[in-house]
Amino acid sequence: MPANALASYESECASCHMAYPPALLGEQSWKNVMSGLNKHFGTDASVDPKIQTEITSWLLKNAATRQKYSEIAPDDRITKTTWFIREHDEVRPDIWKRAGVKSPSNCGACHSDAAKGTFSENNIQIPSK
Ligand code: HEC
Ligand code: HEC
Repeated sequence: MPANALASYESECASCHMAYPPALLGEQSWKNVMSGLNKHFGTDASVDPKIQTEITSWLLKNAATRQKYSEIAPDDRITKTTWFIREHDEVRPDIWKRAGVKSPSNCGACHSDAAKGTFSENNIQIPSK
């Protein structure tokens, strides 16, 4: 996570899931996410227009710069990017469905330090069920 944390990002974007680190999606993908909040993965995640502008500009400022993470994410999902799929190719399909995991989007189920934006191999513990 960037050092210049944004309070509204924590309050508006980390209630249903963790605050995804801005550097895991490119600018265009964040624009796509932020312009479709009223229809956000089957839910309404709309925010006040002023807050929306504030969050969008913070996300764009801190979006991925490395080419690896900058591709336009299919369905606005980090979990559908090429790099995500490649990094997780050793995770068997049934593991994603375990009750302790629920969804690939639930990074913190396996990455113990996900909330801090750390995904290192040394901090991974896959729930056994
Ligand atoms: C009302 C609940 C809710 C709020 C508030 C919310 N989201 Fe989400 N978000 C979801 C759901 C549900 C999913 C899909 C999760 C899944 O498939 O397990 C999701 C998924 C995502 C994904 C894709 C994760 C993946 O699979 O790669 C991104 C990116 C995202 N949200 C960003 C945001 C941002 C930015 C905000 C704040 C403006 C926000 N969300 C606020 C419910 C919410
Ligand atoms: C079911 C458990 C699980 C979930 C959920 C999960 N990951 Fe992973 N992740 C792994 C495993 C296992 C690896 C491979 C580690 C290795 O290379 O040995 C990995 C690798 C990674 C890597 C590469 C780490 C490195 O140092 O090479 C990143 C980045 C990453 N995950 C991000 C995410 C993000 C972001 C999410 C949520 C959107 C997520 N992961 C969800 C298990 C998971």
